[in-house]
Amino acid sequence: MNPDLQRLQAYPFEKLAKLKAGATPPADLAHIALSIGEPKHAAPAFVRDRLIAHLDELSNYPVTKGMDTLRQVIASWLNRRFNLHTAAINPETQVLPVSGTREALFSFAQAVIDRTQQPLVLMPNPFYQIYEGAALLAGAEPYFMNTTQANNYLPDFDSIPAEVWRRCQLIYTCSPGNPTGAVMPLAQLQQLITLAEKYDFIIASDECYSELYFDETRPPPGLLEAAQSLGNTEYKRCVVFHSLSKRSNLPGLRSGFVAGDAGILADYYRYRTYHGCALPPPIQHASIAAWSDETHVRENRQLYQQKFRRVIELLQDVLPVTQPEGGFYLWPKLPVSDEQFTRDLFAQQNITVLPGRYLSRDAHGENPGANYIRMALVADLAQCEEAALRLQRFCQNL
Ligand SMILES: Cc1ncc(COP(=O)(O)O)c(C=O)c1O
Repeated sequence: MNPDLQRLQAYPFEKLAKLKAGATPPADLAHIALSIGEPKHAAPAFVRDRLIAHLDELSNYPVTKGMDTLRQVIASWLNRRFNLHTAAINPETQVLPVSGTREALFSFAQAVIDRTQQPLVLMPNPFYQIYEGAALLAGAEPYFMNTTQANNYLPDFDSIPAEVWRRCQLIYTCSPGNPTGAVMPLAQLQQLITLAEKYDFIIASDECYSELYFDETRPPPGLLEAAQSLGNTEYKRCVVFHSLSKRSNLPGLRSGFVAGDAGILADYYRYRTYHGCALPPPIQHASIAAWSDETHVRENRQLYQQKFRRVIELLQDVLPVTQPEGGFYLWPKLPVSDEQFTRDLFAQQNITVLPGRYLSRDAHGENPGANYIRMALVADLAQCEEAALRLQRFCQNL
């Protein structure tokens, strides 16, 4: 067996199941899950229709590179969304469709890491656990960048020693962040690109929450936009990861893309041809429909805006909840242990949340997820309101 498998931590939901084991919530309260970041709004009907209309194409093998039209639609979407006027994305060389960002974030590290050079992979802490597993199985050592209230839940690149940057081969960033919702400003993305040029490492920018934001006039900036603004018009060392899962409520479609540096994508494409993960043709057609429409995305944002407004209104007197800049999570700090809170909340109110420490590691003398909880406002408004009312009661008795 691959000995590195032993280095993988249990997934947060395995730890959560153990924590909840043995607790019996009141039978008269229906269970409400705020723990899993799985979108629950309806999948767009026109995307389902397109998928069904192309089922006959299941009899064709798809190619890893995806259909030309899919890559063209994705490139146009990127150009529009991130104002890539001076350096339009080339759909032939700078886009690859992937089966959701999860597999891509994982396989990307396997393709780009040179394990002979004592590689470091930098990542935020707390984080999406795939980054850590990807680094470990690629033969690299994870280096955690704590994102805390003190640094507005963003990594502090100035605090990272030169020695770490020298060994860094790959950095994962996540903006809007899971779980914190923090958005990296353009200036910070520019700072990171300058560091990548100086120390020669690759930036993997996880932007899968980029379309979930609360101010329609200020969509979160992206890495490609920052590269263009610096004159890095070939997007050297920059790769972005996008997905239809959150943007279009299609987590079951397994459809996303990576885009950026053509040289890196050429090597990653070579890896993917062996990886064997081409998107089935009906999924590619459905994805073309989804990336071509913004109306359903705006409606989706409005649903989240309503829920955040209402839930924050109900909870603000009992928990330090603040409106995130993006994403669909609340990330309040608790006056008590996150594990105890989670277990008692489940036992008394039949609500499941995720203890912050299950998303973070001890690093640099602290655990930045400890005594936080993550609450995903993915259920419908009525269920989110009901959860907030039960949380009010629970917190008042703390
Ligand atoms: C930060 C982050 N990145 C990536 C993913 C993977 O999403 P998908 O594979 O559905 O694109 C998730 C899913 O929850 C996530 O939270």
